[in-house]
Amino acid sequence: MGAGDGEVAASKEKGGGGAERTSLDGVRDKNVMQLKKLNTALFPVRYNDKYYQDAIASKDFSKLAYYSDICVGAIACRLEKKEGGAVRVYIMTLGVLAPYRGLGIGTKLLNHVFDLSAKQNISEIYLHVQTNNDDAIAFYKKFGFEITQTIHNYYMNITPPDCYVLTKFIGQAATKK
Ligand SMILES: CC(C)(COP(=O)(O)OP(=O)(O)OC[C@H]1O[C@@H](n2cnc3c(N)ncnc32)[C@H](O)[C@@H]1OP(=O)(O)O)[C@@H](O)C(=O)NCCC(=O)NCCS
Repeated sequence: MGAGDGEVAASKEKGGGGAERTSLDGVRDKNVMQLKKLNTALFPVRYNDKYYQDAIASKDFSKLAYYSDICVGAIACRLEKKEGGAVRVYIMTLGVLAPYRGLGIGTKLLNHVFDLSAKQNISEIYLHVQTNNDDAIAFYKKFGFEITQTIHNYYMNITPPDCYVLTKFIGQAATKK
């Protein structure tokens, strides 16, 4: 709780001070409504209760981003156990409200999850993205994600219904030995 604030201050900052004016806060029962409001504004998909339970259960892996005290973005993750016991991170959603894009807030949210994953020796982060979402695909590729799968008819009510699975494998070198 609250552990996120300032903890990624050393992450790559962008010009304009946008990321510096942004603080991160955990997702809890008390503020989960903020995440619901953001998702309604950002995504054409309705998320069910399980999504919100998973986000809260992921603890520090899910964060709301506040820009000058306004909630403008979020990353929501689910932690998944793989066979053999290793944990991987599934990014359920990452979004920043349109007027606040390009300020480094998306980068800050993603770097937060990278830092936390490295600390916990998590070696795989993955997500789904609609195949026509060129901006998001370019964004993730910049951070070392690669397309590992194409799933046809993944989405029910949006066009195109297809998605890519983007995966980032984090090398052992990312963690301090
Ligand atoms: C993808 C997204 C989260 C990026 O957030 P952001 O806060 O704008 O990201 P940043 O400011 O850290 O910018 C990172 C890069 O995104 C790209 N970008 C920035 N602003 C952009 C804009 N207004 N439009 C398109 N791409 C933009 C740039 O490549 C930028 O890197 P650069 O500044 O070094 O060139 C945001 O565009 C978004 O919410 N999109 C809609 C929701 C979505 O599609 N999410 C992904 C699927 S879950």
